[in-house]
Amino acid sequence: MRCYYDIKYPYLQYSYTDTDGDYIMFSVPPAMLAHKYYTVFNKQPESFFDCGAAIGMIVQLALDYGMDARGIDIKRYPPQHQSFPWMKHMGKFYAVPHAKLQDLFDSGRIEIKSVLDCEPVKSDIAYCNGTLTYFDEQTLPNVLSKFQNVKMLCAIHNTTEDVNAAKELGEKLGTCNEPRTIKPNKWWIKTFNKNGFNAEYDYTLRTFIAIPRQR
Ligand SMILES: C[S@@+](CC[C@H](N)C(=O)[O-])C[C@H]1O[C@@H](n2cnc3c(N)ncnc32)[C@H](O)[C@@H]1O
Repeated sequence: MRCYYDIKYPYLQYSYTDTDGDYIMFSVPPAMLAHKYYTVFNKQPESFFDCGAAIGMIVQLALDYGMDARGIDIKRYPPQHQSFPWMKHMGKFYAVPHAKLQDLFDSGRIEIKSVLDCEPVKSDIAYCNGTLTYFDEQTLPNVLSKFQNVKMLCAIHNTTEDVNAAKELGEKLGTCNEPRTIKPNKWWIKTFNKNGFNAEYDYTLRTFIAIPRQR
């Protein structure tokens, strides 16, 4: 049977090694986020920032797409030495040499630091996959303030609705960090709005799209 994340994020999945074993990451292809950007701004995005870049796969895909992509992660992942590293991208399976991703860290394109220690991010697209849920409610406004200078913030993360839907399939949702803020979809929209964004939930991308109001 397909797991909940497999159903929710069918467009991009990849294997990776964490400190305690091998896992699958579920994400959204940067090309689809770029397409969303195009429908909102009527031009192609030139830059991309992955907040919580993990092993660097999203930054690499955004570079491959033609964007100037950068990222940060609070955690340094172990060297990727799997025997069969793979990626399922837009329905097709690929073998991916993860080792090449190390260059992104060696060159400084991806830095090891917390978003809380970053200057406000400047980028056409900023992407947070899971990252926002790792903060408590009190800290979230500070985190969101880091994205006031981006043109479009794309955030995917578990909501109360996800947790309940997974429960109905007999699953307990797990993420790479312990989430601190699991709230209903509407709460997230209100929180983005309260913190200076116009937000919607895109049901195709399964992504919150938040556009800073001050621009
Ligand atoms: C679900 S992974 C996303 C990986 C990748 N962006 C993708 O979509 O495939 C979330 C990442 O956020 C990182 N993270 C958690 N707290 C963070 C923080 N305060 N600052 C930066 N990254 C953080 C975690 O270490 C983890 O690698």
